[in-house]
Amino acid sequence: MKLRNTTSGKILRKIILAIVALVVLAGLAVLVAFSVTHTRLTRTYSLQVPTVVVKSDAASVERGRHLATISGCMDCHGKDFAGTVVINDAVVGHLSGPNLTRGKGGLPTDYSDLDYVRAIRHGIARNGRPLLLMPSFDYTGLSDEDLGALIAFLKSVPAVDRPSGVVEPGPLMKVLIAVGEMKIDAARIDHGAKRPVSVAAEPTAEYGRYLSASCSGCHGTNFAGGKIPGAPPDWPLAPNLTPATGAFMSQASAADFMHVLRTRTLPDGRQLSPVMPVGFGQMTDLELTALYNYLKTVPAVAVKK
Ligand code: HEC
Ligand code: HEC
Repeated sequence: MKLRNTTSGKILRKIILAIVALVVLAGLAVLVAFSVTHTRLTRTYSLQVPTVVVKSDAASVERGRHLATISGCMDCHGKDFAGTVVINDAVVGHLSGPNLTRGKGGLPTDYSDLDYVRAIRHGIARNGRPLLLMPSFDYTGLSDEDLGALIAFLKSVPAVDRPSGVVEPGPLMKVLIAVGEMKIDAARIDHGAKRPVSVAAEPTAEYGRYLSASCSGCHGTNFAGGKIPGAPPDWPLAPNLTPATGAFMSQASAADFMHVLRTRTLPDGRQLSPVMPVGFGQMTDLELTALYNYLKTVPAVAVKK
């Protein structure tokens, strides 16, 4: 097309220039985003952190098994802990929880207790790189005793030979990381915070607060819900779990709460999406009561319309 030097030609030329400028700017923005993300993901965290006592008695292993179940580890690391695909989307990325067993393709034989502590509590891989998608922020407050039990259990799972899947963020996840919409857990964990040595399991709001750490990754640290960080577009929003008017917790009795978590059916008969982890339904009555008592006390945040 030849643009003559008429008024409409000039306007057209300006529009084309504006479009070209926009495309160039968008391209630059993506480049900057990718390089920011690259810096965030390849940063080395060299922390000196204390380890925890890992007992291998049957009671500790059993406690660890329960903790792994109610913390959703299997959702990403597989029922056999040999890894599973979590996100498989060209735009969001291809991410799998790795094989955590000692089989071929799993953790190396010299993977130490401190390596587990650094991964689970601090979100840092053995080589100092921050772990992606692994929700260490939710687990960082675990007591020394519980973390020790969890590690004892992980060390007890049978070896499975299966190569670990890839951990490759796609363009959307890279942009989300660059703009801070998806957080790198290692960067926001208070690594020096004092963790409790052990926590009394009682049906109190206090114990519920301890347990609720595994809900905040999706429902938010203020439990107001919303878009789950880094989630593919087909995942539902996390609902508001505060006792705000119109939210589930404002009406629910303790029995309703247990019913929803155990049967995955809402009072109106709707089934919960599998995005809401199945493992929480395995919490004991005491744990669910504690969680309920705590969620009733969190400040109400108005439900978004
Ligand atoms: C939302 C998914 C998800 C959940 C839930 C999850 N993990 Fe992970 N985990 C990952 C991914 C993905 C990686 C690898 C990240 C990377 O390499 O950047 C990982 C890495 C790890 C590692 C480090 C492995 C290594 O090679 O150094 C350990 C240990 C681990 N997870 C334990 C756990 C335990 C224990 C739980 C439950 C308390 C758990 N994970 C829950 C996704 C998850
Ligand atoms: C991996 C993300 C994730 C985690 C972790 C998570 N949830 Fe959810 N939860 C969801 C999603 C998504 C829904 C909505 C599912 C739907 O609409 O089908 C949901 C729904 C719910 C509901 C139903 C409320 C309503 O208004 O519909 C309750 C209650 C709930 N979650 C409690 C919890 C508790 C308690 C924890 C922690 C022990 C927790 N969730 C952890 C994602 C999560």
